[in-house]
Amino acid sequence: AITPVLLAGGSGTRLWPVSRKSFPKQFAPLVGEESLFQASARRLSGARYGAPVVMTNADFRFIVAEQLDQIGIDPAAIVIEPAGRNTAPAILAAALAAAERDPDAVLLVAPSDHVVPDAEDFGRAVDLGLAAAEAGRIVTFGITPTRPETGYGYMEAEGEGQGPLILKRFVEKPDAENAARMIADGNFLWNAGIFLFAAKTMIAAFREHAPEYLAPVQAALTEARLDLGFLRLAAEPWDRLPDLSIDYAVLEKAGNLSVVRFSGHWSDLGGWDAVWREIQNAAPAERGAVTDPRSTAIDCDNVLLRSQDEGIEVVGIGLRDVMVVATNDAVLVAGMDRAQEVRRAVGALKDKG
Ligand code: GDD
Ligand code: MG
Repeated sequence: AITPVLLAGGSGTRLWPVSRKSFPKQFAPLVGEESLFQASARRLSGARYGAPVVMTNADFRFIVAEQLDQIGIDPAAIVIEPAGRNTAPAILAAALAAAERDPDAVLLVAPSDHVVPDAEDFGRAVDLGLAAAEAGRIVTFGITPTRPETGYGYMEAEGEGQGPLILKRFVEKPDAENAARMIADGNFLWNAGIFLFAAKTMIAAFREHAPEYLAPVQAALTEARLDLGFLRLAAEPWDRLPDLSIDYAVLEKAGNLSVVRFSGHWSDLGGWDAVWREIQNAAPAERGAVTDPRSTAIDCDNVLLRSQDEGIEVVGIGLRDVMVVATNDAVLVAGMDRAQEVRRAVGALKDKG
């Protein structure tokens, strides 16, 4: 069986005030009843998969354990990274640990903050990539791009069809000009941020492209200790690691990438406008007024009204193109087209102290 590895260590500032340093977006129910993390764990459960490994940090360990327990998923391990060093060392640690248990282990690494409603459709894409992964390829999943987004990885595939196709090029987070060029070119796909590979393939890729990670990550693993059932990696070697994502550390350089096209619905919920769109897609509201049980929209157009606190009611009257998100200690009010600037607000609040 494929071992799912859920990355749950990031913090999503663009979904403030629901997403907080101590409780980031992946643990909040943003679309539907379950949290994004729970939906991700459930998506990667079932016949194809073994018990999941969750890579996270000390702050989130109890949230992870509790949220898995709530949906009846028993993890193979919840691994605590001593410090956030981005996805490169997290993925290498998962690969080294898996290869120790089973030299032929195949991992499916996935973020825990995405929306992919059709798990079976995604599962079929995984099935398509499995043989390539077993044969030593790092299999990515490609999304047909719709705009010159600069926050994603871009991938150029060789040939047509669903794949797996050989990847000619991987470009992480291009600037606006290059993103526009790749969109115009038409041959590029977005990287979904989900990777299927044999553990030993990833270890070999690190040995070739980012060898400085191997010894410290191995040491952090060898000296790890079990703490209340969590696997706590050793801090000393880990803290010294460079902070780099897998995309920059390995994928941009690797020559053994393949891609399976995924044409089902995928969203990385990069802002409140994206949350609005997801809910609106699932159950279209009259005049696009998206509310929750604690919010009321009267005569509103293209509006998101949201209360994340039992005790707070949000009422909007005669609003247009606006988002309001209320929690017990903060309220966001912003134009629907300004969703990306929420990150700036979080920065400004930090400066205030
Ligand atoms: N365990 C752990 N430790 N997880 C982490 C860490 C860490 O230090 N840093 C980030 N993560 C988690 C995040 O919570 C998220 O689920 C996932 O790893 C990806 O990190 P992001 O920070 O969200 O990456 P990104 O969105 O900028 O870019 C990646 O995803 C895009 C698609 O959404 C890249 O792979 C892009 O190429 C891709 O297009
Ligand atoms: Mg992301």
